[in-house]
Amino acid sequence: MARILITSALPYINGIKHLGNLVGSQLPADLYARYMRARGHEVMFICATDEHGTPAEIAAAKANQPVAEYCAEMHGVQSDLARGFGLSFDHFGRSSSARNHALTQHFAKRLGEAGLIEQVSEKQVYSQTDGRFLPDRYIEGTCPNCGYERARGDQCENCTKQLTPLELIEPRSAISGATDLEVRETHHLHLRQSKLRDTLDAWIDSQRGWPVLTTSIAKKWLHDGDGLQDRGITRDLDWGVQVQFDGAPWSGLEGKVFYVWFDAPIEYIAATAEWADAHGKDEAAWRRWWRTDEGADDVRYVQFMGKDNVPFHTLSFPATLIGSGEPWKMVDYIKSFNYLNYDGGQFSTSLGRGVFMDQALEILPGDYWRWWLLSHAPENSDSEFTWENFQASVNKDLADVLGNLVSRVTKFCRSKFGEQVPDGGTTGPREAQLVESLTKRLRAYETHMEAMEVRKSATELRALWVLGNEYLQEAAPWSSFKTDPEQAAAQIRLALNMIRFYAVISKPFIPDASARIMADLGCDDWSWPSDVAAALEHLPAGHGFTVPEVLFAKISDESRSEWEERFSGQR
Ligand code: 2FM
Ligand code: ZN
Repeated sequence: MARILITSALPYINGIKHLGNLVGSQLPADLYARYMRARGHEVMFICATDEHGTPAEIAAAKANQPVAEYCAEMHGVQSDLARGFGLSFDHFGRSSSARNHALTQHFAKRLGEAGLIEQVSEKQVYSQTDGRFLPDRYIEGTCPNCGYERARGDQCENCTKQLTPLELIEPRSAISGATDLEVRETHHLHLRQSKLRDTLDAWIDSQRGWPVLTTSIAKKWLHDGDGLQDRGITRDLDWGVQVQFDGAPWSGLEGKVFYVWFDAPIEYIAATAEWADAHGKDEAAWRRWWRTDEGADDVRYVQFMGKDNVPFHTLSFPATLIGSGEPWKMVDYIKSFNYLNYDGGQFSTSLGRGVFMDQALEILPGDYWRWWLLSHAPENSDSEFTWENFQASVNKDLADVLGNLVSRVTKFCRSKFGEQVPDGGTTGPREAQLVESLTKRLRAYETHMEAMEVRKSATELRALWVLGNEYLQEAAPWSSFKTDPEQAAAQIRLALNMIRFYAVISKPFIPDASARIMADLGCDDWSWPSDVAAALEHLPAGHGFTVPEVLFAKISDESRSEWEERFSGQR
């Protein structure tokens, strides 16, 4: 039994995530966590809301709420949605937790002591009316390049030119509209990542079998242009982790907070501590996952994320961990994803384009979405959601192949033998052949799941369902019953066991449906059916069951076009 630490990129707190966000980190991480648990490993699956930074402040202001209250509320909303999609986190934490504040300050202190933090003086825009320094995107003005009047201090949305606030013509505060802005000298902390360049380079080289998508992005940042750049890790915001150490402010940085990307990955660790707190466990309980001197040297740590997050996880966060000089557990494997597009364009949070997690669950249960999203995960290239494809997938794979098999077998058994596993008869060469085929495919499924090959795993699982259908087609107990009821009984006994077999192996993909099947089969032995022949004899003759309600309803053409229409505009 191994110990496996799994983290999913932390969703930003500001608003509900769309299906593209979901399939890029949390959902595949859940698939892997569920599979590893099913195989008997000890799993710690961690996620949290990423709560600091300008976007959180802006969203709270828009909602007319104090930011702490806004975040607490949105954390609740995101937790409920996670449950709706069956995301089986061991803990869903919050980057604004006391644990993360303390740990973030701890890391900054260690990095400072190691000479890896530098205080630099910068010119920054101060708003007298607002009584504060303004972050770049809180400043608006006219673009010097194209004349667009609502360009932001970091970029012009109209011509995409990257800007600094000082370049804007007639700048004003995006908070108050005030124009009494002035440039003041201020101080910020920089993390001297450049000093760790060779160490990071060597660490990445020592990783075996990382996906090309992951290493190519990391290498690009290490070597392109002037190589790895030092990075500002403080911001002028109220909301965030204060730049303080042991309760005292870092001189010259009073009132500033750490940059959200500095504290967010530290929350992976802090959330594990939050997990221990929530379960009344001691410090050792979480440290054995994270400190190699306290047991984490035999942990395998896997991270899931979208490709835009890769630089932070291959370079910045490792720089924080290595730079601390302490024995923190480093990631062993980074599984990164491309983007999911929506019906000929992009999913967009700012434009409200696509299907969002709350809307998806209003239409259909989580399993329907899990199946489509995972079986079309944007692994090797971007992929695209279309309603037509979604309908076809649900109707064929879930309703026709799996759902139909379950319903046909259980109903037939009820009508001919009653609601219990039938007795009598023996199986023959056809069944032996089936066991052989299922075994071969199960081994392939296991291999792909181990390797986090999400699409290939889905393909293999579907193929396993198809084998069962083909067997029933050929064995046709509904006909053999007329001439040889004993043989039909043996076939149906096997088929009922095959349904349990499917429930167990399909659970990582469709946990709710699997749980319903098992409940109706009156079975809660989820042990992995490695030995297929034995698994197909698991439920003995006489074992009672009930016929399940429809497992997966088909999506009608009317529903499909209604949804297509409903989601064609903006949220
Ligand atoms: O890109 C994002 O959605 C970020 N909130 C991910 C943070 S991952 C981690 F480092 F916390
Ligand atoms: Zn412009």
